[in-house]
Amino acid sequence: MPSTMSPLIQLRELHAYIGDAINVLEKECSEHNDPMVDVHSTEVHPRITRILSEEVGNAEKTIFGAATMLQASLNPRTVLRDKILSYHITNALQVVNAKGVAKILGTGKVSAKDLAGATGINPDKLTRIMRLLCSNLIFCKVEDDVYANNAVSILLASDEAQALVGHCLEDVNPVGVSGLYEALTKVDLKDSFALSASPFAITKRTELSVFDYWKRHEPHAFYRFPKAMSAHAEYDGFAAAKAFPFADMSGGVIVDVGGSLGQTSRLFLEENSKIQLVLEDMEPVVRAAEEHWTVNHPDLISRVTFQPCDFFKTQPVKGADVYYLQNIIHDWTDEDCVKILENLRDAMTTESRLIIAGVVPPSLTKGPAPRPLLPNYSESFAFCSDLQMLYMCNSRERTAADLDRLMNPLGVKVVKEWKNSGSFTLTECMFCYTTLNCEYVDQLIHTISTITMSSFAQFARNSRKIVGIGRNYADHIKELNNVRPTEPFFFVKPMSSLLFKNQGPVLLPRGVKVHYEVELAIIMGKELKDVRESETDRIYDAIAGYAVGIDMTARNMQEQNKKKGLPWAAAKGFDTFQPISDFIPKEKIPDPHNAELWLTVNDQLKQQDNTNLMLFRIPRLLEHISGIMKLEPNDIILTGTPKGVGPVVHGDVMKAGIRVDGKEIAEGLMEVKVEDRQGGYEFKL
Ligand SMILES: C[S@@+](CC[C@H](N)C(=O)[O-])C[C@H]1O[C@@H](n2cnc3c(N)ncnc32)[C@H](O)[C@@H]1O
Repeated sequence: MPSTMSPLIQLRELHAYIGDAINVLEKECSEHNDPMVDVHSTEVHPRITRILSEEVGNAEKTIFGAATMLQASLNPRTVLRDKILSYHITNALQVVNAKGVAKILGTGKVSAKDLAGATGINPDKLTRIMRLLCSNLIFCKVEDDVYANNAVSILLASDEAQALVGHCLEDVNPVGVSGLYEALTKVDLKDSFALSASPFAITKRTELSVFDYWKRHEPHAFYRFPKAMSAHAEYDGFAAAKAFPFADMSGGVIVDVGGSLGQTSRLFLEENSKIQLVLEDMEPVVRAAEEHWTVNHPDLISRVTFQPCDFFKTQPVKGADVYYLQNIIHDWTDEDCVKILENLRDAMTTESRLIIAGVVPPSLTKGPAPRPLLPNYSESFAFCSDLQMLYMCNSRERTAADLDRLMNPLGVKVVKEWKNSGSFTLTECMFCYTTLNCEYVDQLIHTISTITMSSFAQFARNSRKIVGIGRNYADHIKELNNVRPTEPFFFVKPMSSLLFKNQGPVLLPRGVKVHYEVELAIIMGKELKDVRESETDRIYDAIAGYAVGIDMTARNMQEQNKKKGLPWAAAKGFDTFQPISDFIPKEKIPDPHNAELWLTVNDQLKQQDNTNLMLFRIPRLLEHISGIMKLEPNDIILTGTPKGVGPVVHGDVMKAGIRVDGKEIAEGLMEVKVEDRQGGYEFKL
């Protein structure tokens, strides 16, 4: 777009921006007591591994962007010619990288003759290659025919950086050279976003993903890739670890899905000594990761589980606190992304966070750039990365809006984007569970997200008993033609009947007609014995919180027991007969006698009533129970079910929850399938 600024003013503006930005960098260096970066030094400058403040990041960007624009403004023809011929630089770089020239030079200086001897390259030709690289500030010529590393080339001296150059220039670039034109122009390919229409697939004549192709046909490229990603992580990993408040997590499990060698997630463990890591990838990569950690991070390895996985299949770790996907979604077509995300969604609870980390391409038209800089000045890396995905997978780098579009049908929503300077972004997402919970997630969007790590399953494992109150809602008594009790009555369910979120289906024993009964569950926090109904302070102080429970009941068996005067232990106590939600902190239900319980079967509403309909209120219930048996911390008390109970059959899906003031309590949401149990006990009337 033509600028209204005169060309001369543009030049002066660009010059001024560079001056101002240098002042920012100078200030930052002096604050850290660092010298300015010296391009001739082989010492890695501390700023390279520091997370830059927005101001410093922008100053660097400004200098890069302004310098590029200055060049183009001064001599467009030279700029074009240099861009066209830039393949000589990358080709030269590929050869010297393959021959390990940066490692040979180390921190010393080496003559062209010795370098030629060490690499096996003809001295004359090597000299011609080196002088091109030196003139582009990769290596430097310290004397006639004597070379050394500089601040740029010393970065190539590590195995990881060498792998990254090899990966880009030997494993990926050739497929761009040979297949991009065909992929973009051939009539039957150009509009396709299928994997089979990628330049990679066209060149290699394969339908396999790059990962499977390399694994099967080019093991050298397959094993080079994790190392290359390690070098990448040196750019992105720090940004990731610092962008999201991993340090604030109160513990829990992070699953690094497709985590390669775990180069980034290692930093999360360093940030927070309470978290555990599950590192997932294809089997050979996981084995390489285990070796890598054994050698390089023996102090952290006890907190890591190495888990081979195929993210197109069921996620092996259920209910983790964080599922972290860095540079994964960009490798796949929309259709494949949905499959990966669906498998994760199935493993998530409403407490779990899904974090999609990667480059988010900046807008081409909007941005904070001061004129005459381009809106996306100095963001070329993001666009290169996007094209790399096109070459390899016919895929792309995605924005939060792209991710939302893919995930919304799955009930997963973007909550917040976290980033430092640069285009690397952590997109935090949550599983909504129901449309109502989506509203709750909507409220969270753009607010600071806190991670509340619930370990209710562990909490409830310490419980000693489940006490179930019977006949506590008048309409429910009526629907089952029961007699209204004159004092509370209860039964005890075994702990083995508990079924936590994502632990699988409720199993229907053979010959048994099973009913659902949704209930408010009280979770005890302190011991109570012989408490009086009037001691309300003591009673509510002893309650730790609440949960939603479904008291599954073998109705035909219970009816028969009632007739015969037999106990209900079996009718209520089958394994899986006590699905329960996450723990609800008591502040979330300030008045337990004014909350709305609900339950659906196959999305048909079956039960929905307010807890103010309880016949015996909580103080009276606890007086009664604690007068008979002491209540202990972690005991669970089911307070009775409202009307609407009914049968479920194989294939049904029950959802339940609780609302306060019309708002869904996220922790109370639950979804559980129902399936026939194979074998085992059979009830015969
Ligand atoms: C682009 S790399 C990202 C690695 C790492 N997350 C990072 O950012 O450094 C993609 C990773 O996905 C893994 N991968 C590919 N297909 C997979 C599959 N079907 N199941 C699990 N992992 C897979 C690859 O082995 C590779 O480590």
